[in-house]
Amino acid sequence: MKPMNADSVAVRCCNVEKHFGEGDSRIEVLRKVNLEVNTGGLTFLVGPSGCGKTTLISVIAGLLDASAGEVELFGSNTARLPASERILFRRRHLGFVFQQYNLLPALTAAENAAVPLLAAGMKRREAVDQARSLLCRLGLESKSETFPSKLSGGQQQRVALARALIHEPRLVVCDEPTAALDHTTGDSVMALLSSTAVRPDRAVIVVTHDSRVYHYARSILHMDDGHILKTVEYP
Ligand SMILES: Nc1ncnc2c1ncn2[C@@H]1O[C@H](COP(=O)(O)OP(=O)(O)O)[C@@H](O)[C@H]1O
Ligand SMILES: [Mg+2]
Repeated sequence: MKPMNADSVAVRCCNVEKHFGEGDSRIEVLRKVNLEVNTGGLTFLVGPSGCGKTTLISVIAGLLDASAGEVELFGSNTARLPASERILFRRRHLGFVFQQYNLLPALTAAENAAVPLLAAGMKRREAVDQARSLLCRLGLESKSETFPSKLSGGQQQRVALARALIHEPRLVVCDEPTAALDHTTGDSVMALLSSTAVRPDRAVIVVTHDSRVYHYARSILHMDDGHILKTVEYP
């Protein structure tokens, strides 16, 4: 059953293009990408290696500028904001989960998960306390004070998920979050992502090429050679 407040459009791409380099070395990576991503479920972005998935989500998340076209997040075109406001928007409203976790080795699990709150100016103790309780909900209660090097891959990915969710962002972007994990661990991270990240007011984009986890998707964007071939919705 759909929630009372109907899902809304979180991300809209209109004719988004991206190239790298110029002249003979110019390569076209995104070719007029058009898509919409709704709140309230997991949207998967799937396609062969090298087809442009990471580039596309980097453009959506504002880590890269599009060469042409428009990206709207929750109705506003953030590319038109001054640089300082774009950074604040990203810090406040976006969460990232990377394939290789990207945890800071000198920080404990709780400190890593607290980074977005610390960046937003929250006092350290309060931020780390909040991170501990989120880690607890993610099944890592005994690992809060552990350093990343002493955690398994699945545990590190859970910490990375906590870091992506702790500041309650409106858009969560995950780039092949289970690619470095074995199937069972990958499935449990995906189940956790599906149960903790999905909210009526939040959109979650997951890049994957693991068809074994497709059943978690509410919609799947199929990408090849720099554009979206088709979108499949699951009721
Ligand atoms: N910074 C860059 N400079 C030049 N080429 C790039 C850059 N980033 C990505 N590419 C190229 O763009 C294509 C798509 O890359 P990517 O978005 O990483 O694909 P995917 O995530 O689907 O594997 C690849 O051919 C890659 O080599
Ligand atoms: Mg990639």
